[in-house]
Amino acid sequence: MAIFTPRANLFMNAALIGAVLLGACLLLAIRVVPVIGYNTQERFAPEQPIPFSHKHHVSGLGLDCRYCHTKVETSSSAGMPSTAICMTCHSQVWRNAAMLAPDRQSLAENIPLRWNRVYTLPDYVFFDHSIHIAKGVGCTECHGPIGDMDLTWKARTLYMSWCLSCHRDPAPHLRPRDQVTTPDWRRTPSTPSGEALMADYHVHTENLSDCGVCHR
Ligand code: HEC
Ligand code: HEC
Ligand code: HEC
Ligand code: HEC
Ligand code: HEC
Repeated sequence: MAIFTPRANLFMNAALIGAVLLGACLLLAIRVVPVIGYNTQERFAPEQPIPFSHKHHVSGLGLDCRYCHTKVETSSSAGMPSTAICMTCHSQVWRNAAMLAPDRQSLAENIPLRWNRVYTLPDYVFFDHSIHIAKGVGCTECHGPIGDMDLTWKARTLYMSWCLSCHRDPAPHLRPRDQVTTPDWRRTPSTPSGEALMADYHVHTENLSDCGVCHR
């Protein structure tokens, strides 16, 4: 004799599936929602006046970051390329492409292109590219796999906790200085250890988390 009717079985199954689904939803809400990009804008790629692709220009054509971001080693900001830099090539290749019309107009009227910013810090935070480059922090540590990006998207939150986590322990994030702009750099067995690079480049962490370093 069956203790449970087939209908009771059906109820039981429905209840079990319901419980599992509810659990999955809760887990999603607790673990995933706070870290997906709504607030942080991580992975967000703003529209641009010209759909410029790092993938084509960096990985495809092999251009170095410094060809376009000319000030990155010497100043606090990396700088955006002038229209003239684009035109060294695009007065020849893709000369008449509609996509590049804003570029030609900018050159003709001598008005710089207005790129929409992907990374911005609040005014009360001090940041300096040149020191990071000089100490062997690669561009991709902070800007992600930019050589694979068509439209540039935001790869890091730029939260204070993110800055601090590296300032407390930079060793694993360092690379030889001459590899700083390499978009697909990977540590190999012959790469000097992070600790060796810390010593070579005189990286000192004692005061690196002091408020005054970033809030001046
Ligand atoms: C041919 C010129 C060129 C080269 C080479 C180039 N970039 Fe760019 N980069 C641009 C242009 C144009 C923009 C603005 C459009 C955009 O955001 O994609 C830009 C934007 C960026 C931004 C976003 C800046 C912001 O906050 O809006 C980052 C980060 C960046 N580049 C990093 C790099 C890195 C790292 C390299 C080398 C691996 C590199 N770029 C090589 C032209 C270049
Ligand atoms: C060293 C030469 C060179 C420079 C400098 C250069 N480009 Fe290009 N660009 C090319 C070539 C070559 C192509 C064609 C690439 C292809 O089809 O794979 C191209 C393609 C493009 C395209 C078509 C879409 C694509 O990505 O294939 C756009 C848009 C573009 N470039 C914008 C720019 C802008 C904006 C700048 C300046 C910030 C710039 N380029 C600087 C050589 C250059
Ligand atoms: C330690 C992290 C870090 C490293 C390393 C880094 N950047 Fe940045 N980058 C930032 C931050 C943070 C901003 C936003 C700065 C601001 O708003 O003041 C930024 C902004 C930019 C911009 C926008 C223009 C500007 O100067 O504000 C470009 C372009 C750029 N970075 C390119 C590069 C290139 C190229 C490299 C490597 C040679 C590089 N960055 C290395 C953190 C980094
Ligand atoms: C991946 C590692 C890393 C990240 C991320 C990082 N930094 Fe740094 N930062 C360093 C290293 C390494 C130094 C050099 C320390 C030294 O000179 O001994 C440095 C130095 C600095 C300095 C100069 C300190 C001085 O003594 O003058 C400032 C300012 C700074 N960082 C701000 C920031 C801010 C703001 C952020 C986040 C938006 C940030 N950094 C994110 C690694 C990092
Ligand atoms: C390595 C760089 C760095 C250091 C060191 C640092 N901060 Fe910040 N701080 C930041 C950045 C970047 C932001 C902006 C974060 C954002 O936009 O969410 C920030 C934001 C803040 C804010 C605004 C908070 C908010 O949620 O809006 C306060 C307050 C602050 N920091 C206080 C401090 C104090 C106090 C110290 C010392 C104990 C300190 N910071 C050390 C980088 C730093």
